[in-house]
Parts: sequence; C-alpha cells; structure tokens
Amino acid sequence: MQLRIITDQPWQVAADVLALPIVGEPAFNGALAELDRRSGGELAAMAAFGELTGKRYHAALAASGDLPAGRLLAVGAGPGDTINRETIHRLGATIERRLGGRAVHSLAIWLGDLGTYVDGGDAIAAELLVRGVVEGSYEPKAIYLATVESAPPILDELILVAPGADTAALTRAANRGRIMGEGANVARTLANRASNDVSPIVLADAAREIAARNGLSIDVIEPEQAAELGMGMFLAVGRGSDNPPRMIVLRSGEAGQLDALGRHLAIVGKGVCFDSGGISIKPADRMEEMKMDKTGAATVIAAIETVARLAPGTPLLAIAPAVENMPGPHSTRPGDIVRALNGKQVDITNTDAEGRLILGDALTYAEQLGATHLVDVATLTGAVSRALGHLVTGAFGTPQAWYDAVIAAGDQAGERYWQVPLIDDYVVEMDSWYGDLQNSSSAEGSLVKSGLFLREFRTKPWVHLDIGGTGYFRKASPFAARGANGVTHATLVELALAGAR
Ligand code: BES
Ligand code: MN
Ligand code: ZN
Repeated sequence: MQLRIITDQPWQVAADVLALPIVGEPAFNGALAELDRRSGGELAAMAAFGELTGKRYHAALAASGDLPAGRLLAVGAGPGDTINRETIHRLGATIERRLGGRAVHSLAIWLGDLGTYVDGGDAIAAELLVRGVVEGSYEPKAIYLATVESAPPILDELILVAPGADTAALTRAANRGRIMGEGANVARTLANRASNDVSPIVLADAAREIAARNGLSIDVIEPEQAAELGMGMFLAVGRGSDNPPRMIVLRSGEAGQLDALGRHLAIVGKGVCFDSGGISIKPADRMEEMKMDKTGAATVIAAIETVARLAPGTPLLAIAPAVENMPGPHSTRPGDIVRALNGKQVDITNTDAEGRLILGDALTYAEQLGATHLVDVATLTGAVSRALGHLVTGAFGTPQAWYDAVIAAGDQAGERYWQVPLIDDYVVEMDSWYGDLQNSSSAEGSLVKSGLFLREFRTKPWVHLDIGGTGYFRKASPFAARGANGVTHATLVELALAGAR
C-alpha cells in the first residue's frame, strides 16, 4: 500500500472512494457545502433521507456526481467536544471496514478539522487514521481461510487529503501510523491463532523470526534451565501439558542499557497458549476463547518489533512466559506448594489462577535481567470484564508516578484505562496455611487480589494491565472484527519510545 499526502481540496481528489468525516449533526457548510454541491446535492439528500446520520462510526456510501472521486463515504465522528485520539483511530478503522467486499483500490480520506480536536493537530490525526485503516483491514478469517467473503479491501493506495498541510510532517506521521497498525495486527494474529497451531514452542519460533527480522536478541528458556533458575511457579503451570513451556526473552539494545529517560523498561505478557483451568477445570461454555489467553504475550512480542522498526536500538526487554494450562496426571494439584523465582513459597489453591503464577516469575526474571521499570499485560481475570466491560482496560500500579507515566503513554496511543486500587488490607485474605501466600482466595475483591498477588513478585516500579475484558471482541463492531484487537500494543510502544534517543 502506497501512502500519499495531498494538500489539494477534497473536491479535487481522484480516488475510488473519498471518505468524509462528519463532525456533529450533518451540516453542509464550508468545504462540505462545496462537496455537496459538486455531488449534485447527494450528501444533503442522503442526510434528509436519514441515511447519512453523523452518528459516531455510522458510515454512508453516496454517489459522487461530478466529483473526481468514484464514491463518497460520509462517516460520523460524533459530537466534536467528545472526539479524542481513540475516536479518530476508530474512524479510520470504520472507513476501511465499511468498504468490506467493495472494489476499492485507492481510498482517500479528507482530514477535515479532525486535527483540531487533539493535541498534535493534523499530523496526529493522520497517524491515527492510517493506523485505524491498517487495523480495519485486519480479517481474522484470513488466518485459516483462503478466501473470505466481504473482506476489507486490500488497498493499493491510501491518500490523506489535508489542504495546506506540511506534507513532510504528515508523511512521517502516516508512516508511523502504518507501522503501529501493522504491529497491532501482528499481535492479533498471534493471539487469534488456534491452540493446535500455536503451542509455546511455536510461539517461541514466531518470536525468533521476529527477532531475526528486526535485529533483536532472543533467549528461549526451556524447562530444564527454568528449573535450574528456580522458576517454580512458571513450571507448575506448564506441567500438565505435553506441549512444554518456554520462557521467551526478547531484547532490543544492550543488556542493562538505560534509555534516554534512565530506564531499562521490561514489558511482560501472559502467554497461556490454552487455559483449560488445569485441575481446577473451567466450564465448557466459552472455553474455546481461552486460546486467546496468550494475547498478552502476543502483544509484547509485537510491541518490541514495532519499537525496533520505529526506533532501532531503543533499550527494551520483552518477556513472554508461554505455557499450556492442562489437566493430566502430571498437572499441578490444588494445594501444591511451589517455590517462586523470588523465593516465596506459593500455595496454588486454584490452578485456574495460572496467569499470575507465570507472570510472577517473569517479573522477577525481568528484574534479574536488569529491568528498572516493569509493565505486564495479561488476560488475567474474568472479573475485570465484569467491572469495566470490553472497552476499558483495568490498570494497577505502584508507585503512582510510574502508573501515571504508563497511562500518559496510553493517552498518546488513544487507549483507555481505569485504575484499580491495590488495597493492602486484602493481602491477609491471601495468606496461606502452609506457604507465604496462596494464588487465589474468595471471589470478593478478586480483581484487586490478582494485582496484589503480582505485586509480591517485583520490587521495581510496576504497572499491570488486565485485558481480560478488552483483549478480544466477542462481536464485530463498525471498527473491529471479532477476536483479538491489539489493545495495549500502542500504549507499550509509546511508552518505550518515550525513552528513544
Ligand atoms: N484466563 C483467565 C481469565 C479470563 C477469563 C480472561 C475469561 C478472559 C475471559 C484466567 O486465567 C482465569 O481463569 N482467571 C480466574 C481467576 C480465579 C480462578 C481467581 C477468573 O477470572 O475466574
Ligand atoms: Mn485461568
Ligand atoms: Zn488464564
């Protein structure tokens, strides 16, 4: 796909489709009046008819009259005072998805005044639109099917129409948006692939390919070495499966190297290639979704690739503990006591609370490798989706200044978080009869307790992002297909790039 910036007026642009953001109630003044006039009044007629509503993410295809563009696509941006980075990103995706099944080779998007609603202006709007179009082109059915009906179009050319803009700045921004979108799509495919396709070994192989492509170093720790190192929690989860676990460690930059902000950042992602619950087995209903329990791992692996593409050499560690959580004669039993990498004796009261076990050892290991700042991403709980739903990621962290830094990167990325408190008073409820702590206790406050558990396995500034609700969509929406959606990828990339030189 070619990216092109055009500084002409939108009515001068030739393309198969020209997309027009409609902010607020449809009103045909300024440039939209000119477009409407040249379309032969089509836009205003469609609005009067009720086909063009301006409702957010509602998109209407219209004839283009005398305009050089083949067709118009009016897409609702919603009320101007509520437009933010997320809105613009999703508008891009909506435009691309709305054209599913249509013969579109060149798509032009008029920026309109979208840039005025975000700091960063037209350049940021351009970046977010391109990122959105690239993510909107993602079709999970294409993973296993040779042909997909009504798939989003494969574009030869994406044109951004920004009259009077700084072409060089917009070109840079558009390219950044493309790379961000491609990275999110890499994460989505790794996350969406089936468990009979992606075992921990296959995930490690995928990470090796990514490392080779981008000049990253990689170390894949096998069970024997994990045992020598003392990763008792990590190994406890993988024991029940014939597919052995792998601790995947990717690195950009040099070991221990600090970034421009004086950090050695580690991003850690939960890689449960299938979560049956183990001996504490899950009910059958929706168990198939647990092939996506590796979404956190997929996300950090993709994020380090994106960082390497955008700013090669930026110091960054990505760690993905990969396991399959299965019941069997070798499985960990409820009540088994294991020694964590940091020396704590952990009482595994529920083998379905496995994410925190593998992440705990991965966080400790990140610190052993020199990490000074930690962020983990995990489909850790069902509780987070009951609390916050599928559009807001639950976030925990300490100290508050590090939490704020991570969320600031999230704001840049156009991703939404809500802070869950780490309430010290609940720690006693995780006391074990035999060990230092247990991995699961009563359901009350279980979301908070999942964070409290992880907190025990790091000593450095740390943030935990629970994407149990947001990591994948159960239904298609105007802006995304079903399945893994790449959430937190852009946040992690922005966070790492804040330290790029
Ligand atoms: N992977 C699940 C959490 C999950 C469930 C994410 C459904 C997305 C959709 C996790 O390993 C798990 O089983 N969590 C348990 C924890 C409990 C046993 C303390 C949960 O949330 O029920
Ligand atoms: Mn589980
Ligand atoms: Zn899980």
